[in-house]
Amino acid sequence: MKSTVSSSTVAPRLAIVILAAGKGTRLKSRLPKVLHQIGGKPLLQHVIDAARHLVPARDIYAIIGHEADRVKQAVAPTGIQFVLQSEQRGTGHALMMARDALANYDHALVLSGDAPLIRPETLTRLHDAHFERRAAMTLLTAFPENPFGYGRIIYSKKKPRNGEVVQIVEEKSLTPAQRKASLREINAGFYAFALAPLFAHIDHLTTDNAHREFYLTDMAEILARAKQRVISVPADDPIEVLGINTRAELARLDAQLRDRKCADLMSSGVTIYRPETCVIDADVTIGTDTVVEPFVQLLGRTTIGSDCRIRSYSVISNSTLADNVTVRPGCIVDQSTVASSAILGPYSHLRPESFIGESAHVGNFVETKKVRLGKGSKANHLTYLGDAEIGDGVNVGAGTITCNYDGAHKQKTVIEDGAFIGSDATLVAPVRIGARSYVAAASCITDDVPADSLALGRARQSVKEGWAKAKREEQSARKK
Ligand code: UD1
Ligand code: CA
Repeated sequence: MKSTVSSSTVAPRLAIVILAAGKGTRLKSRLPKVLHQIGGKPLLQHVIDAARHLVPARDIYAIIGHEADRVKQAVAPTGIQFVLQSEQRGTGHALMMARDALANYDHALVLSGDAPLIRPETLTRLHDAHFERRAAMTLLTAFPENPFGYGRIIYSKKKPRNGEVVQIVEEKSLTPAQRKASLREINAGFYAFALAPLFAHIDHLTTDNAHREFYLTDMAEILARAKQRVISVPADDPIEVLGINTRAELARLDAQLRDRKCADLMSSGVTIYRPETCVIDADVTIGTDTVVEPFVQLLGRTTIGSDCRIRSYSVISNSTLADNVTVRPGCIVDQSTVASSAILGPYSHLRPESFIGESAHVGNFVETKKVRLGKGSKANHLTYLGDAEIGDGVNVGAGTITCNYDGAHKQKTVIEDGAFIGSDATLVAPVRIGARSYVAAASCITDDVPADSLALGRARQSVKEGWAKAKREEQSARKK
């Protein structure tokens, strides 16, 4: 189909640039700042996730520099692009480095990689204001309780009502008069730029300031002087633009994020008792009418269905629980899958690649690893099941152990449908227990058991009547 759209109606091409090259000196860490985590994922990942609501990953550019390879590796699966700023000479210099990468775009949103609570709705407001008012530069601002340390916004005296910005002044550069004026509106570190005027004037930036850096914030004054429109949009909630510079701030924002997460879950129909004691990561999903008891941790990419009950002191990470699952107190579930109506715990440990079937039970002090436990099967007490394929309706008695490791290799145990494993059995892999068979209690099973059989693998019991009495009499005779 031929299109005759004129250039003026073509949608402007929008990129998102995320500043993430800095070291984060104040964190006193070997880990680059943007890889520190809140809510169970790196700061930079939060910002990328918000950006992806506005543009596809291929239009997102992270400026990286300090520990660039490490940062790149951590977020490469998102499919975003990277621009190297090998020397970190300031936020303005970061944009200079992105000039070639941005050659095919008309506008860019510039975000701080260290401000992870930013919401997509707020980025959309920044974007919309920028386009509606045809600004050259639009900055997101906020009114935090304590503006110390942030850049402050100076408006034109001539038309203050239009909110035209003439300058951003960094804390250290405030004049005595500006300090006295107690300017409360801060630069949040999120901007929209029309790229033509930005790159036409970016070479006017200088390092004539306290840090000897190229400040991106100086573009406000440079563009305003060049008669370009510079405007501001205040964020609704100052919390969402807070940046992280210290470990104390990291802890505070982590708490904020988790409060927000619990509130979102509760408003979508999840019951959380004492939410202030629970640790729920940003990407966790939970179905309606599930109940989460105090002191539960739900981490990573965990998905929990509806009508489940997660009891206290359980830690579930990167796992999937279907509907109506009960997790009794004190369970650890890692990289595992639990089918509907299964019951875990108390004190079960599901290690990676455990699959617990529908209505199955895994009980007290049972450890599983790389196991498939079939529908309605039970392993209720003091058991280790590793590298095992267990069918439906199997009963695994107390103290059963799959001996899966010969010191060099992991071997597999197969237990077919309906088998009954007596207590304290040791199943030396590789071994197969046939369908509906019985393994006698305390057996050591080293050979395959055919279906419908009984396997006994233990010494026969012998009884010496009167032996104990005779021994006691002999001992008391010796004492005399
Ligand atoms: C910056 C703003 C300040 C604003 C505050 C909001 C400047 C000069 N000041 O200050 O007005 O109130 O954010 O949080 O921009 N970065 C690079 N390359 C560099 C330097 C920094 O990519 O050469 C990245 C950092 O990794 C960080 C972001 O830019 O993600 C902001 O840098 P930072 O040093 O934290 O700036 P602030 O001092 O917080
Ligand atoms: Ca910062």
